[in-house]
Amino acid sequence: MTPDDLKRRDFLKASSGLLGASVLPVSLVELAGATPAESFTFAYISDSHIQHVKGAQFVRNWDRGLMRAVAECNLMNPRPDFVMFGGDLAQLALPQELDHGAQLLSGLKGPVRMVMGEHDYYADDGAYWSKLFGPQWYSFDHKGVHFVVLNSILTDKAWYDRWPDGKARMAEMAGLDNPNGSPFQVGAEQRAWLKKDLANVSKDTPIVVFSHSPLQKIFKNWNFWTDDAELVQDILKPFKKVNVLYGHVHQIQYNQIGNISFNSVMATAWPWPYPQSYAQAPSLLPKLTVPINRADPFFERDATGWQYIDVASGRVAAHYLLPENPVRTVAFDAKKNQPVDLQYQDEKSRTLPQNHY
Ligand SMILES: [Fe+2]
Ligand SMILES: [Fe+2]
Repeated sequence: MTPDDLKRRDFLKASSGLLGASVLPVSLVELAGATPAESFTFAYISDSHIQHVKGAQFVRNWDRGLMRAVAECNLMNPRPDFVMFGGDLAQLALPQELDHGAQLLSGLKGPVRMVMGEHDYYADDGAYWSKLFGPQWYSFDHKGVHFVVLNSILTDKAWYDRWPDGKARMAEMAGLDNPNGSPFQVGAEQRAWLKKDLANVSKDTPIVVFSHSPLQKIFKNWNFWTDDAELVQDILKPFKKVNVLYGHVHQIQYNQIGNISFNSVMATAWPWPYPQSYAQAPSLLPKLTVPINRADPFFERDATGWQYIDVASGRVAAHYLLPENPVRTVAFDAKKNQPVDLQYQDEKSRTLPQNHY
């Protein structure tokens, strides 16, 4: 066992102790070919949906989800190199919601980077969010990995012009299955920027792309969808190791399309169920029979969660920390050349899901 393994074991002990839940075997977080020098972790919190009620009052459950994630993030040992927030910090993109969310996030130790969600955007085209958090798309390098953040929740002009103002657009976008909503897109401007950004990046450099909506087409009726996903995938095609991490879907999903591994992250606010369409689609998404132990009306954090991400040899492994549920890990399997849910897809390590009652 290497010193790095020991560090991981310490962390896992700490995290499982915190949650009072399961213990993840250390071997599950190791990836073939990883060397300690290349490996690092970052934490990921997403979809807090901070919602204003009146005066200084906000929806308590959503506040509590984010507070818990921040507190647990700060206790991680070893420390994550940085924290990503995956979008939908607010519910209706109101300044008071974004201010309150920013205040809760300011409790995080270490650097925090932000992704734009549709619930942060439509009231004012992201103006207040940008004032608080900066550009809506950008890139950075960290320990040999090139990270890209995209605003994937834009729409076309026809839909935008249909509505009189931001308030109306936000109201239409806030529903899950509203036929008046619009599919998302990254758009031509950002795709041109992405091409340029990647022009000077070596094809061997691992790429991690953060978006809010999935950069793949999963289920249009619920907007688990990005209209120009294939065009973005084309730009990423020349690179050997590409990972896309996204929020928005409030559930665990993973997929492999060509060279690109996809992993979703959980929400701290509430879980969405798996759409029925998954039953028909031949895909790598979880089977409908795989439960996310939901929904227990007596437990406000049921089937919500946050995660830490291992980056080893340029492939990500997402570790889902689900309060009062077993920790789940979705890691890239080099032999299968795709992400695998180590608890539910690996027959050898398959265990019955536990729940908290
Ligand atoms: Fe969301
Ligand atoms: Fe969203």
